[in-house]
Amino acid sequence: MKPLILALPENGSFSKILATHLDAEIGIIELRKFPDGETYVRIDTELENRSVVLVATLAEPDDKILPLIFAAATARDLGATNVGFVVPYLAYMRQDRRFKAGEGVTSTYFAAILNRWIDWLVTVDPHLHRWTSLQEIYTMPSEVVHAAPLISSWIKENVSRPLLIGPDIESEQWVSHVAQEAGAPYLVLEKIRKGDRDVEVSIPDVDAWRDRTPVLVDDIISTARTMIETVGHLMQAELRSPICIGVHGIFAGDAYDNLLASGAERVVTCNTVPHSSNMIDVSGLLSDSIKQRGFGQD
Ligand code: R5P
Repeated sequence: MKPLILALPENGSFSKILATHLDAEIGIIELRKFPDGETYVRIDTELENRSVVLVATLAEPDDKILPLIFAAATARDLGATNVGFVVPYLAYMRQDRRFKAGEGVTSTYFAAILNRWIDWLVTVDPHLHRWTSLQEIYTMPSEVVHAAPLISSWIKENVSRPLLIGPDIESEQWVSHVAQEAGAPYLVLEKIRKGDRDVEVSIPDVDAWRDRTPVLVDDIISTARTMIETVGHLMQAELRSPICIGVHGIFAGDAYDNLLASGAERVVTCNTVPHSSNMIDVSGLLSDSIKQRGFGQD
Protein backbone atom coordinates (compact mmCIF):
# COMPACT_ATOMS: atom_id res chain seq x y z
CA MET A 1 0.00 0.00 0.00
CA LYS A 2 1.21 3.54 -0.74
CA PRO A 3 2.63 5.49 2.21
CA LEU A 4 0.34 8.18 3.52
CA ILE A 5 1.67 11.72 3.90
CA LEU A 6 0.14 13.97 6.54
CA ALA A 7 1.14 17.60 6.07
CA LEU A 8 1.28 19.76 9.17
CA PRO A 9 0.00 23.35 8.66
CA GLU A 10 2.03 25.41 6.12
CA ASN A 11 3.65 22.28 4.70
CA GLY A 12 0.99 21.52 2.08
CA SER A 13 2.87 22.62 -1.04
CA PHE A 14 6.09 20.87 -0.08
CA SER A 15 4.13 17.72 0.81
CA LYS A 16 2.46 17.65 -2.60
CA ILE A 17 5.82 17.70 -4.39
CA LEU A 18 7.13 15.03 -2.03
CA ALA A 19 4.04 12.87 -2.60
CA THR A 20 4.67 12.97 -6.35
CA HIS A 21 8.31 11.90 -5.91
CA LEU A 22 7.34 9.13 -3.49
CA ASP A 23 4.14 8.03 -5.21
CA ALA A 24 2.47 8.55 -1.83
CA GLU A 25 -1.11 9.46 -0.96
CA ILE A 26 -1.88 12.67 0.91
CA GLY A 27 -4.12 12.14 3.92
CA ILE A 28 -6.50 14.57 5.54
CA ILE A 29 -5.50 16.00 8.89
CA GLU A 30 -7.27 18.77 10.70
CA LEU A 31 -5.27 20.70 13.27
CA ARG A 32 -6.67 23.77 14.93
CA LYS A 33 -6.87 25.51 18.25
CA PHE A 34 -9.78 25.28 20.63
CA PRO A 35 -10.92 28.70 21.91
CA ASP A 36 -8.87 28.10 25.06
CA GLY A 37 -5.69 27.65 23.02
CA GLU A 38 -5.46 23.86 23.29
CA THR A 39 -4.77 21.85 20.12
CA TYR A 40 -7.48 19.84 18.33
CA VAL A 41 -6.38 17.06 15.97
CA ARG A 42 -8.42 14.79 13.70
CA ILE A 43 -7.10 12.51 10.95
CA ASP A 44 -9.85 11.83 8.42
CA THR A 45 -8.10 9.11 6.41
CA GLU A 46 -8.05 5.37 7.23
CA LEU A 47 -4.67 4.61 8.87
CA GLU A 48 -5.06 0.99 9.98
CA ASN A 49 -1.88 -0.90 8.97
CA ARG A 50 -0.48 1.99 6.97
CA SER A 51 2.87 3.76 7.01
CA VAL A 52 2.44 7.40 7.83
CA VAL A 53 4.89 10.17 6.92
CA LEU A 54 4.45 13.44 8.80
CA VAL A 55 5.85 16.49 7.01
CA ALA A 56 6.70 19.60 9.01
CA THR A 57 9.54 22.04 8.81
CA LEU A 58 10.44 23.44 12.20
CA ALA A 59 11.47 27.09 11.86
CA GLU A 60 10.00 28.92 14.88
CA PRO A 61 9.35 25.50 16.33
CA ASP A 62 7.65 25.88 19.69
CA ASP A 63 4.09 26.33 18.39
CA LYS A 64 4.56 23.46 15.94
CA ILE A 65 5.90 20.83 18.28
CA LEU A 66 2.80 19.93 20.28
CA PRO A 67 0.59 19.62 17.16
CA LEU A 68 3.32 17.42 15.64
CA ILE A 69 3.46 15.15 18.67
CA PHE A 70 -0.34 14.94 18.84
CA ALA A 71 -0.46 14.08 15.12
CA ALA A 72 2.08 11.28 15.64
CA ALA A 73 0.24 9.99 18.71
CA THR A 74 -3.13 10.08 16.93
CA ALA A 75 -1.71 8.23 13.91
CA ARG A 76 -0.40 5.48 16.19
CA ASP A 77 -3.69 5.35 18.05
CA LEU A 78 -5.57 4.92 14.78
CA GLY A 79 -3.46 1.92 13.76
CA ALA A 80 -0.54 3.28 11.68
CA THR A 81 2.21 0.65 11.50
CA ASN A 82 4.95 3.25 11.64
CA VAL A 83 5.20 7.01 11.79
CA GLY A 84 8.09 8.70 9.99
CA PHE A 85 8.99 12.36 9.93
CA VAL A 86 10.25 14.44 7.02
CA VAL A 87 11.59 17.60 8.60
CA PRO A 88 13.31 19.81 6.00
CA TYR A 89 14.61 22.11 8.77
CA LEU A 90 15.30 20.37 12.07
CA ALA A 91 15.15 22.81 14.97
CA TYR A 92 16.91 22.66 18.32
CA MET A 93 20.31 21.59 17.07
CA ARG A 94 22.34 24.65 18.06
CA GLN A 95 22.17 24.44 21.86
CA ASP A 96 24.48 21.46 21.75
CA ARG A 97 26.30 22.03 25.01
CA ARG A 98 26.05 24.00 28.23
CA PHE A 99 27.78 27.25 27.22
CA LYS A 100 27.02 28.91 30.56
CA ALA A 101 26.41 27.26 33.93
CA GLY A 102 22.75 26.41 34.40
CA GLU A 103 21.75 26.32 30.71
CA GLY A 104 19.67 23.48 29.34
CA VAL A 105 21.13 21.41 26.50
CA THR A 106 17.88 21.61 24.57
CA SER A 107 19.12 19.65 21.53
CA THR A 108 19.13 16.48 23.65
CA TYR A 109 15.78 17.19 25.33
CA PHE A 110 14.11 17.86 21.99
CA ALA A 111 15.59 14.70 20.46
CA ALA A 112 14.27 12.72 23.44
CA ILE A 113 10.72 13.98 22.73
CA LEU A 114 10.88 13.00 19.06
CA ASN A 115 12.51 9.65 19.88
CA ARG A 116 9.43 8.79 21.94
CA TRP A 117 6.93 9.38 19.11
CA ILE A 118 8.64 9.05 15.73
CA ASP A 119 9.98 5.86 14.08
CA TRP A 120 12.35 7.41 11.53
CA LEU A 121 13.42 10.84 10.45
CA VAL A 122 14.92 12.45 7.34
CA THR A 123 16.24 16.00 7.29
CA VAL A 124 18.40 18.44 5.31
CA ASP A 125 21.75 19.63 6.71
CA PRO A 126 20.98 19.80 10.43
CA HIS A 127 23.33 22.05 12.40
CA LEU A 128 25.88 19.41 13.35
CA HIS A 129 28.74 21.06 15.17
CA ARG A 130 29.56 19.73 18.61
CA TRP A 131 27.22 16.83 17.87
CA THR A 132 28.93 15.25 14.90
CA SER A 133 26.03 13.03 13.87
CA LEU A 134 22.29 12.89 14.54
CA GLN A 135 22.76 9.41 15.98
CA GLU A 136 24.43 10.92 19.04
CA ILE A 137 21.05 12.19 20.22
CA TYR A 138 18.44 10.60 17.92
CA THR A 139 17.95 6.91 18.65
CA MET A 140 15.48 6.28 15.80
CA PRO A 141 16.85 5.51 12.30
CA SER A 142 17.65 8.87 10.74
CA GLU A 143 19.12 10.14 7.51
CA VAL A 144 20.72 13.48 6.67
CA VAL A 145 20.74 14.79 3.12
CA HIS A 146 23.09 17.53 1.95
CA ALA A 147 22.07 20.51 -0.12
CA ALA A 148 25.68 21.22 -1.22
CA PRO A 149 25.41 19.61 -4.71
CA LEU A 150 22.22 21.58 -5.44
CA ILE A 151 23.77 24.82 -4.17
CA SER A 152 26.85 24.19 -6.34
CA SER A 153 24.66 23.65 -9.41
CA TRP A 154 22.77 26.87 -8.69
CA ILE A 155 26.06 28.78 -8.39
CA LYS A 156 27.44 27.25 -11.60
CA GLU A 157 24.30 28.27 -13.48
CA ASN A 158 23.92 31.75 -12.00
CA VAL A 159 27.29 33.21 -10.91
CA SER A 160 30.38 33.83 -13.01
CA ARG A 161 33.79 33.64 -11.28
CA PRO A 162 32.46 32.96 -7.77
CA LEU A 163 34.55 33.14 -4.60
CA LEU A 164 32.84 31.13 -1.90
CA ILE A 165 32.97 32.47 1.64
CA GLY A 166 32.03 30.73 4.87
CA PRO A 167 31.43 33.21 7.71
CA ASP A 168 32.78 30.93 10.45
CA ILE A 169 34.59 27.67 11.05
CA GLU A 170 31.27 25.80 11.47
CA SER A 171 30.36 26.72 7.90
CA GLU A 172 33.50 25.09 6.47
CA GLN A 173 31.71 21.73 6.23
CA TRP A 174 29.16 23.26 3.81
CA VAL A 175 31.28 25.80 2.01
CA SER A 176 34.14 23.40 1.22
CA HIS A 177 31.77 20.88 -0.42
CA VAL A 178 29.92 23.56 -2.34
CA ALA A 179 33.21 25.08 -3.54
CA GLN A 180 34.60 21.73 -4.61
CA GLU A 181 31.55 20.84 -6.67
CA ALA A 182 31.27 24.36 -8.11
CA GLY A 183 35.00 24.28 -9.00
CA ALA A 184 35.50 27.57 -7.15
CA PRO A 185 37.98 28.81 -4.50
CA TYR A 186 36.77 29.40 -0.94
CA LEU A 187 37.68 31.30 2.23
CA VAL A 188 36.49 30.63 5.76
CA LEU A 189 36.36 33.62 8.12
CA GLU A 190 36.53 33.83 11.89
CA LYS A 191 33.40 34.73 13.83
CA ILE A 192 32.98 35.74 17.46
CA ARG A 193 29.38 35.67 18.69
CA LYS A 194 28.93 38.09 21.60
CA GLY A 195 25.16 37.71 21.92
CA ASP A 196 22.02 36.57 20.05
CA ARG A 197 22.21 39.64 17.79
CA ASP A 198 25.85 40.68 18.25
CA VAL A 199 28.37 39.06 15.93
CA GLU A 200 31.94 40.02 14.91
CA VAL A 201 33.63 38.59 11.83
CA SER A 202 37.29 38.98 10.81
CA ILE A 203 38.30 38.93 7.18
CA PRO A 204 41.71 38.00 5.67
CA ASP A 205 43.52 39.87 2.88
CA VAL A 206 41.25 39.67 -0.13
CA ASP A 207 43.30 41.55 -2.75
CA ALA A 208 43.74 38.43 -4.83
CA TRP A 209 39.97 38.02 -5.22
CA ARG A 210 38.81 41.40 -6.51
CA ASP A 211 37.69 40.07 -9.88
CA ARG A 212 35.41 37.48 -8.30
CA THR A 213 31.81 37.58 -7.05
CA PRO A 214 31.71 36.72 -3.35
CA VAL A 215 29.11 34.06 -2.51
CA LEU A 216 28.49 33.67 1.22
CA VAL A 217 27.25 30.22 2.18
CA ASP A 218 25.93 29.23 5.60
CA ASP A 219 23.53 26.59 6.88
CA ILE A 220 21.16 28.92 8.75
CA ILE A 221 20.23 32.57 8.28
CA SER A 222 18.33 33.50 11.44
CA THR A 223 18.84 37.11 12.59
CA ALA A 224 21.18 37.44 9.55
CA ARG A 225 23.72 39.20 11.81
CA THR A 226 26.41 36.72 10.74
CA MET A 227 25.80 37.44 7.05
CA ILE A 228 25.28 41.19 7.56
CA GLU A 229 28.55 41.52 9.45
CA THR A 230 30.36 39.57 6.72
CA VAL A 231 28.75 41.59 3.91
CA GLY A 232 29.89 44.79 5.71
CA HIS A 233 33.51 43.62 5.76
CA LEU A 234 33.44 42.58 2.12
CA MET A 235 32.02 45.97 1.13
CA GLN A 236 34.68 47.72 3.20
CA ALA A 237 37.34 45.67 1.44
CA GLU A 238 35.78 46.94 -1.81
CA LEU A 239 34.88 43.51 -3.12
CA ARG A 240 31.82 43.14 -5.34
CA SER A 241 28.37 42.97 -3.74
CA PRO A 242 28.00 39.43 -2.47
CA ILE A 243 25.31 36.84 -3.07
CA CYS A 244 24.16 35.26 0.21
CA ILE A 245 23.05 31.63 0.18
CA GLY A 246 21.54 29.89 3.20
CA VAL A 247 20.35 26.31 3.30
CA HIS A 248 17.68 27.30 5.84
CA GLY A 249 16.31 30.84 5.59
CA ILE A 250 14.61 31.40 8.93
CA PHE A 251 14.80 35.21 8.75
CA ALA A 252 13.79 36.19 12.27
CA GLY A 253 11.90 39.53 12.28
CA ASP A 254 13.28 41.92 9.64
CA ALA A 255 16.36 39.80 8.95
CA TYR A 256 15.71 39.38 5.22
CA ASP A 257 15.16 43.10 4.57
CA ASN A 258 18.13 44.00 6.76
CA LEU A 259 20.37 41.63 4.85
CA LEU A 260 19.35 43.10 1.50
CA ALA A 261 19.81 46.61 2.90
CA SER A 262 23.32 45.72 4.11
CA GLY A 263 24.55 45.47 0.53
CA ALA A 264 23.85 41.85 -0.42
CA GLU A 265 23.25 41.66 -4.15
CA ARG A 266 20.84 38.76 -3.77
CA VAL A 267 19.69 36.31 -1.08
CA VAL A 268 18.99 32.72 -2.06
CA THR A 269 17.76 29.81 0.05
CA CYS A 270 16.64 26.19 -0.25
CA ASN A 271 12.94 25.45 0.15
CA THR A 272 13.41 23.88 3.59
CA VAL A 273 11.58 26.88 5.06
CA PRO A 274 8.97 28.49 2.76
CA HIS A 275 10.15 31.99 1.72
CA SER A 276 10.28 34.19 -1.37
CA SER A 277 14.07 33.61 -1.53
CA ASN A 278 13.59 29.84 -2.12
CA MET A 279 15.41 29.03 -5.36
CA ILE A 280 16.75 25.56 -4.63
CA ASP A 281 14.36 22.62 -4.35
CA VAL A 282 15.44 19.87 -1.92
CA SER A 283 12.34 17.66 -2.22
CA GLY A 284 14.06 15.27 -4.66
CA LEU A 285 17.00 14.81 -2.26
CA LEU A 286 14.64 13.93 0.58
CA SER A 287 12.53 11.52 -1.45
CA ASP A 288 15.61 9.76 -2.90
CA SER A 289 16.93 9.22 0.59
CA ILE A 290 13.55 7.95 1.85
CA LYS A 291 13.38 5.46 -1.03
CA GLN A 292 16.98 4.33 -0.61
CA ARG A 293 16.49 3.64 3.09
CA GLY A 294 13.17 1.94 2.42
CA PHE A 295 11.52 4.25 4.95
CA GLY A 296 7.73 4.27 4.87
CA GLN A 297 7.49 0.88 3.11
CA ASP A 298 5.29 -1.77 4.71
C1 R5P B 1 25.79 29.10 13.55
O1 R5P B 1 26.85 28.71 13.87
C2 R5P B 1 25.21 28.91 12.19
O2 R5P B 1 26.02 28.18 11.33
C3 R5P B 1 24.86 30.24 11.56
O3 R5P B 1 26.04 30.97 11.27
C4 R5P B 1 24.03 31.04 12.49
O4 R5P B 1 22.97 30.25 12.96
C5 R5P B 1 23.48 32.26 11.82
O5 R5P B 1 22.70 32.95 12.76
P1 R5P B 1 22.34 34.48 12.57
O6 R5P B 1 21.70 34.62 11.22
O7 R5P B 1 21.41 34.77 13.70
O8 R5P B 1 23.62 35.25 12.68
